[in-house]
Amino acid sequence: MDIFEAIQTRRSVRDFSADKIPKGDLEKILNMGRYAPTAGNIQPWKFLLLKKINRKGKFKEKLAKNIARIVEELAIPDEEKKLRKKNTKEALNNIFNAALIILLFVDTNTYPDLVIYDGALAAQNIMLAAHALGYGSSFQTSFFPERIVKDFFRIPEHYKFICALPIGKVGKKPIMPEKKPLEELTWKD
Ligand SMILES: Cc1cc2nc3c(=O)[nH]c(=O)nc-3n(C[C@H](O)[C@H](O)[C@H](O)COP(=O)(O)O)c2cc1C
Repeated sequence: MDIFEAIQTRRSVRDFSADKIPKGDLEKILNMGRYAPTAGNIQPWKFLLLKKINRKGKFKEKLAKNIARIVEELAIPDEEKKLRKKNTKEALNNIFNAALIILLFVDTNTYPDLVIYDGALAAQNIMLAAHALGYGSSFQTSFFPERIVKDFFRIPEHYKFICALPIGKVGKKPIMPEKKPLEELTWKD
């Protein structure tokens, strides 16, 4: 797959089969993350790899409780709350089915206003590399509040959490979302 095809055909995958990722593929994928550009070449990343089921399980429980609490506080009828709780639980389970979840952090000690970009650029490299090797991934934020993630894994305060990147064999294939035409996104002087 060349770079144009990889960029164009990568989709956000939110549903995975439990198939494992061979060590060689995993290393290749992570390695591409570290080739991303960074402000001042500071390379402020930490990739926390969640592979073991029990560690993932306890963390997932914590996130599920948080989502259930948020839904409970919504001003919507009880029936709708029940449905939303079921749907979000299912969505979280589908993400945690992935063979691997990378939690991506950046050290804010150097360029605090810029490291968020460094994190996003590494995430894109990782997602593209995973896709090129036949795996799915996505940039996950809403189920993963920074406070919960950092407290659970006792991450030092000067690290900022960027996103969770589940990676694994694709379960349900995502459909191509609508993309705005280039003319709409271009300003010409
Ligand atoms: C900053 C950012 C945050 C995102 N947060 C989530 C998220 O919390 N959950 C999710 O399923 N996808 C999330 N996504 C993925 C987007 O929903 C997805 O990229 C978008 O719908 C376009 O689909 P595509 O990636 O298949 O082109 C996020 C993407 C970005 C860049």
